[in-house]
Order: sequence, then C-alpha cells, then structure tokens
Amino acid sequence: MGRTVVAANWKMHKTAGEARTYVEKLLELVPSRLEFELIVFPSATALYVVAQVLRGSPIAWGAQNAHWETQGAYTGEISVNQVADLGAAYVLCGHSERRHLFGEDDATVAAKVRSVLAGGLVPVLCVGETLEQRRGGDAWDVVTAQLSAALKDIGPDAADRLVVAYEPVWAIGTGVAAQPEDAQSMAHDIRSWLTELFGSEGAEIPVQYGGSVKPNNADAFLQLPDVDGALVGGASLDPKEFWTIACSAVPR
Ligand code: PGA
Repeated sequence: MGRTVVAANWKMHKTAGEARTYVEKLLELVPSRLEFELIVFPSATALYVVAQVLRGSPIAWGAQNAHWETQGAYTGEISVNQVADLGAAYVLCGHSERRHLFGEDDATVAAKVRSVLAGGLVPVLCVGETLEQRRGGDAWDVVTAQLSAALKDIGPDAADRLVVAYEPVWAIGTGVAAQPEDAQSMAHDIRSWLTELFGSEGAEIPVQYGGSVKPNNADAFLQLPDVDGALVGGASLDPKEFWTIACSAVPR
C-alpha cells in the first residue's frame, strides 16, 4: 500500500482568473492538515496564480506536461525547471491524451520521467490500455510495456519519488469507469511489478486509478486495497465535487 494521492487534472480548462477562484474555494473546504496528498494540475498559464494562492497550504500543484530538455529551441514547450520555479512538485507524464492525440511514444515518456526526476519533481506516470487492447486480452501486456519503457533507466533510489496512475483509455472522459474489481486487480499487479523492479520501495509507490471517477463512484475506487488515490479529470473542474471525491480517500 502506498501513500494516498488524489489529483485534479483540469486539462485545457480555466483561465488564470478562473483558476484563482477555484483554488480559493478549494482552500476554504480543505482542513489545515490532510491525511493524503492533494494535487491540482492547472494549465501552464494558470500555474503562477495557483502557486500564489496555494503556497504554504496543504495543497500541492503540478504541471500537465513538461519537455525533457532543461532549455533550448523548443518553441511552445515548457521545461521542468520553469515549472519547478513556480513551486510545482509534480508533472504528469504519459497521459493517454498526450500519447494518443500528440503522438508521445514510450521513448518520449521515458525521457520526460527522467527529466522530471532530475529536476527534483515527482512524475505521475500514466499507463493504461485501449478498449480494443482490453477486449483482445492484452491489457496487462500493454501496461507492463508502458511501465518498463518509462522506468527501465530509473534506479530504486527514485522509487520514493514516483506516482503511477492506472488509467484505462476507454474510461477517460467517457463516463464509463472501470469495474472496481478490474481496477483493483490491475493496481495489485502493477504493485507486484513495481516491487519486482525496485524491491520493497516499489511496494510503497502510490498507484492511482483514473477514468470517470465521480463523487458517486469515488468510494468504490478509493477504498480498494491496492488503489492509492485517484486522478480526476472532468469531475475535478468544480472544487466542491473534487473535494467530495477526495474525502473518499480518508481511511476507514
Ligand atoms: P476523467 O479524466 O476523470 O474526465 O475521465 C481522467 C484523466 O484524464 O486523468
């Protein structure tokens, strides 16, 4: 069992002003001490204002994406240093939308994971199969191929600075979440795989579930023995709804 991590992935939503209003509202809901990690992933354009509001609070923030080089001629990209400079502690790596809509392959994801770790931040490595792959019985092979490509050059000393999010592609943004037993079984197998790779430290890596997590199904996922939190897209856009989901992470 790893630490519990609940994260809001806003994707390409919210202006800086809307982001400020959101985090101010979220801060009103959140107690000064949290029993789990709570993260928001705003667009890069809102990171500065989110950092201003959340600095010194129990809520962390991260970037949805970052380039693998520290600087250079990469028009339109942002680097790990640049987001770290704004106090970001996490970076999403290998989200299915980056893989499928922007053509990020395993080598790109691996380079990003390395650069996030080198910059002293925590990569949230997203893995997951398509519906076709699940129906074909290939879900586990796809997930292990993504994990091994992204983590093959990472030593066990970095294991305490990793988060893995299992997000079946067909569950993302569709309103059709995985069956909790399937999420549990995949999270369990991912944990065993991480333990084999990193030893006992690997067993402590948080394994989140993501894909159509809503207030009405959050309990079913967050109380599973091997699921250590959630990565929430659509339902995280409203601070109250996101906080309701996060409250399901409190151990009972
Ligand atoms: P969703 O997105 O909650 O809207 O399905 C999850 C994600 O993309 O991380």
